[in-house]
This record gives sequence, C-alpha cells and structure tokens, in this order.
Amino acid sequence: MLTQQLISIENQMNANQINPAEENSSPLQNLDEWEKDVLERYPDPSKINQDKKEEEFRNYEETAKDGVKEFYRLNHKYQTYDFVLQKKAEYLKFDKKEMPVWKAFDFLNELVDDSDPDTDLDQMQHLLQTSEAIRNDGHPDWMVLVGLIHDMGKVLCLFGEPQWAVVGDTFPVGCAYSDKIVYPEFFKDNPDFQNKLYQDKLGIYTENCGLDQVHLSWGHDEYVYHMMKDYIPEPGLYMLRYHSFYSQHRENAYTYLMNEKDHEMFKWVNLFNPYDLYSKNPNQKSWEELKPYYQALVAKYLPVTLRF
Ligand SMILES: [Fe+2]
Ligand SMILES: [Fe+2]
Repeated sequence: MLTQQLISIENQMNANQINPAEENSSPLQNLDEWEKDVLERYPDPSKINQDKKEEEFRNYEETAKDGVKEFYRLNHKYQTYDFVLQKKAEYLKFDKKEMPVWKAFDFLNELVDDSDPDTDLDQMQHLLQTSEAIRNDGHPDWMVLVGLIHDMGKVLCLFGEPQWAVVGDTFPVGCAYSDKIVYPEFFKDNPDFQNKLYQDKLGIYTENCGLDQVHLSWGHDEYVYHMMKDYIPEPGLYMLRYHSFYSQHRENAYTYLMNEKDHEMFKWVNLFNPYDLYSKNPNQKSWEELKPYYQALVAKYLPVTLRF
C-alpha cells in the first residue's frame, strides 16, 4: 500500500512536468484518420493482392501521416497510469448528460469535419456498415447491436477531451509497454517510463490476473463498455471494451495478463475486429430503410435514455 502511494506521489511529480494544455489537442483532421492508419497497418487480407487504388492512399500519406504521428506522440506521452484513473473517476460517474440513444447518435455525428475531403462517411454510417455486415453474416442480434454502438464512446470528444484521450490503440498502463504497440519509441516521454515498477513486465499486476484487473489507456472503448455493462451479453462487452486493443488481439503481446475466461472471450473480440475495419460497403441501405429493424433492436436491449 505504502509503495503504491509513493509511486503515485512520484508520478504526480513527474506528471507536473508535462502539460497537455501546451500541445495541439487535435493533430488529426478527424477521428477517422486514426482508423485509416489502423487499416494501413492491418489491411484487409481479402484485398491485399488486389489492385490498390494508389492515388487514394498517396493523398492520405502525404497530408495525414504527420498528424497521425503527432497524435500517437501525444497519446503515448500523456496516457499515464494516473491519467487513466483520473478519467475513470471523472467519466464513469455518468453525470454529464442524459440522452435517448438516437439523440446520442445525432450528437456523435457532430464530430464530422466537413473541411476534410477524405471524410466520406459520418460516424453513423461507419456504425451502420459495421452492424449491417454483422447482421448479413447471421450473427446474434446483440452482436449487431454491438456493431451499432461500438464507437458511441467517441462522444468524449464533444465533452472536450483531446483526440489522444478518445481514440488510438489502447494498451495496459502500470506495466511495461510492449514494442508491439504502434510507435513504441514515443513512450520514452511518458512519466511512467521513469517508474521502475511500471516498466516491470508485470508491473502492478500478477501473472494471468485477468484483463478485468488491468487498466488500459483511457478512451472510447472503456467508456462505452461501462455504459453498456448492464445491458449486453458478456462476449459483446468484451468486443466493446477491447476493440482497439490491437497489441493483444492482433499481436498477442499481453497474453501473460489474461486468464482463461479472457482467452475464451477474445475469440469474440477477434470475430468482431474485421467488421470494424473492413465493412465499408458502397451499396449500404439507407437509414430510412433500416430504421424499423434498429429501433426494435435498441428497444429490446437498451433503456429509453442513456447516461453519459
Ligand atoms: Fe472504435
Ligand atoms: Fe469503429
């Protein structure tokens, strides 16, 4: 206990030396830019050998890469163990706002940045494409619902959170950073990097303690998981909570923190990920057409209003 307190004090002192307010909180043109970067890192296996539309990518690489890199620099620098605990205390009270689900989607769509020529989709379109692809493959209806709501936590941006505290690959804090995390070199600026315990392989955790005991970097995944905890079956909750945990579900870098249940449940996380990344569909049915199905689905599982 005393060690924990000392670590926390030491960390706060370090944290005082870094000040996120001095940085640009929005290096990405919009939140989708992070997802495009993930897609470049983990391209659709079914499209790898097809002709890539090179000009499309070239434009993205020239204009966006610096922003993405800067985004990760900030994310890795400021997502400390203490920051994560602080954000959990702040947001998991859910005392910011109360909205019907459909209002929340409208709210989320305010995130669209019209000035970006690359943004062809609003947030709602991405959610519908994900959920429709899941539905077309005949998966359970709660998984369709997960597709629909998995990015709802991005409303954090509208509560004034910087991009690096809303999106980005998530990773455990309080133990050593894996070099399988994107841009691992940026962790050297994180105050936790100077903390011996936090840079130990297990850190504050024990071997195979289970991911529920582990704090991941703060963002839209953890937030929406807590929001939905009472309403969705457990495999769906795993999909929500770990969908950006690429260093585990793609790279298996933190298997030593997982217990048997996590292994069982990560089969579902792995099932979900391609729908999130590869479900772009140019022939998407219109919202008007899909509305009755989704209204019934939301009413089946979720309360009339959600607390944010
Ligand atoms: Fe997401
Ligand atoms: Fe997504």
